[in-house]
Amino acid sequence: MALIRQSSIQAVRDACDMLEIVAPYTTLKKTGANYMGRCPFHGEKTASFSVDPVEKVYYCFGCGEGGNVFTFVEKKEGLDFADAVRMLADKYVVRLEFEQSSPGQEERLRRRERTLSLLDQAATYYSRYLRESKSAAAARDYLKRRGFQPEVVERFRLGFSPAGGQSLTQAAAGKGYSPAELLGAGLSSSRNGRAYDRFRGRLMFPFTDHRGRVLGFGARVLDDSKPKYLNSPETDLYHKSSLVFGLGNARQAITRADCVYIVEGYTDVLALSQANIENAVASMGTALTEQQLREISRFTKNVYLAFDADAAGQKAMLRALKLARALALSVRVVQMPAGRDPADLMMMDDGPAAFGKLVAGAPSLLQYQVQAELSGADLDSAEGRSRALDLLKEIIPEAAGSLERDEQLRVIADRLRLSPENVAYLMESTNFARSGSGEEARRRVLSHEEIIERDFLSQCLAHPGEARRYLRDMTDAYFTTAPTRSAFHWVRERLGGQTGSVPATPVSDLDGAGSVLPELLIRSNAGDGSSAGALHELYFRLSEAEISRRINALKKNLTDDDDDSENFRELCRLEAHRREIIELIQAGAYET
Ligand code: UTP
Ligand code: MN
Repeated sequence: MALIRQSSIQAVRDACDMLEIVAPYTTLKKTGANYMGRCPFHGEKTASFSVDPVEKVYYCFGCGEGGNVFTFVEKKEGLDFADAVRMLADKYVVRLEFEQSSPGQEERLRRRERTLSLLDQAATYYSRYLRESKSAAAARDYLKRRGFQPEVVERFRLGFSPAGGQSLTQAAAGKGYSPAELLGAGLSSSRNGRAYDRFRGRLMFPFTDHRGRVLGFGARVLDDSKPKYLNSPETDLYHKSSLVFGLGNARQAITRADCVYIVEGYTDVLALSQANIENAVASMGTALTEQQLREISRFTKNVYLAFDADAAGQKAMLRALKLARALALSVRVVQMPAGRDPADLMMMDDGPAAFGKLVAGAPSLLQYQVQAELSGADLDSAEGRSRALDLLKEIIPEAAGSLERDEQLRVIADRLRLSPENVAYLMESTNFARSGSGEEARRRVLSHEEIIERDFLSQCLAHPGEARRYLRDMTDAYFTTAPTRSAFHWVRERLGGQTGSVPATPVSDLDGAGSVLPELLIRSNAGDGSSAGALHELYFRLSEAEISRRINALKKNLTDDDDDSENFRELCRLEAHRREIIELIQAGAYET
């Protein structure tokens, strides 16, 4: 678990062949210094996906996905950064070296490994008890009655916890685990200073991480008593808000199918898996969290929500919308029949076929939401219609993809008996203009300033000679975001003589320059034929933006009796300079 040395990461990067790694996912053709092909991250008919085999970076002009050789493997193979490095090190035969860690770190790691091992042994203990103990006969009957076959029980390592109260605690003590370790793993509770089994007489569902390591348990009663499920308490390893049930088993199926079904319950995941639908995970109840969606979005951007058809499930889906938008996920809703969850459905004879039909007809989350708001509204009264419009106002304008939005506006217009133009008008900011390419849509979320900063840096890479004299005198103040600022440092250092190479930034590091560099590099040798003039203009625009920011800051601090002060004179100087720059830009005279 120790950290891989930066030098090893570089060695792996140097050894790998980016074209060979991308080859299984798309066919690339050489165009200029780059290779182009259809994007393996989004469906498209034309080639917008670009690979720079020397820098080992990729960028899609269509969907904006970009990264280095490691992020490519992370996303395509569903691995985390360290595992992606390990995999490539194996493939290209590079020996990895690890950082020396401090004694404190060593100790923490050792404790963590012990707890993981304890939890794994507990899972084995419970599962053996379920298989072999006389006292688990009722549990075996229960599973049989619900139609769960031994294979699926094995695959998810289900178990049964002895009713006694001390069995597991004692077995673990026999293997040298202390009461504190059992408490820390969430397996025991303490009463009057004594440790007891937390789980007693329950069906055990191990919670695993995406690598399949056991982090905790969910435990179901066999009858109708409450609570139905008792879960592990929050521990150092198990955090309810970020755990995704079943991800360890489902991971590969999710990347293969490039979509995932998110259900509410553990049993739903089991039932789907038994019907050979392996790309399903559970959200641990209805409260799907941002962390869970983030975790899932590492493996696919296409999400089907198959929550129970009850009020709680519906509310949860609507909540999921905002989160999904923020992560640029495409979400569809599998509308379950009333009162049935996926597990119920799968246990019926034609269940798998019925589920397939529901999936094929699954509306988008936006469509679903519009439907839900409209069906809950009183559309016969003017008041009701106006209230519905107010509710819809919150959903529609934010919706990405204007084609779909327009379609929904038509649905709303139809139901409210208004013209689509009027609906659009009533919703103010919503208009019917087509949003253009994905590239434009994506760049629209960047500030005007940041777009210029990025364009400038990629022109610097394209025209290093001219760029050097600008870069020499520039400071951080020219850049408004952390990613463009670190990209600026990287570009300057690289053009300054030492040949740089793209840092190996993990996917999760979205603030660093790592998220910008692939785009800059690919753009810089995409060969759009731009002359150095574009670079000069961008430099002036950048300077203008920087001076404007200084002017605004000064103005804020200026008081009325400041007319004569140093601040005021400085302000006048800046204003004059800014006008000069604007005139230069307008005249198109960039030579300085
Ligand atoms: P459900 O009540 O739908 O249970 O809760 P289920 O998973 O379908 O189980 P069966 O099929 O009735 O046996 C859905 C999820 O909500 C969480 C669990 O994650 C459960 O899988 N939950 C529910 C709890 O954590 N505690 C509870 O008491 C109930
Ligand atoms: Mn359920």
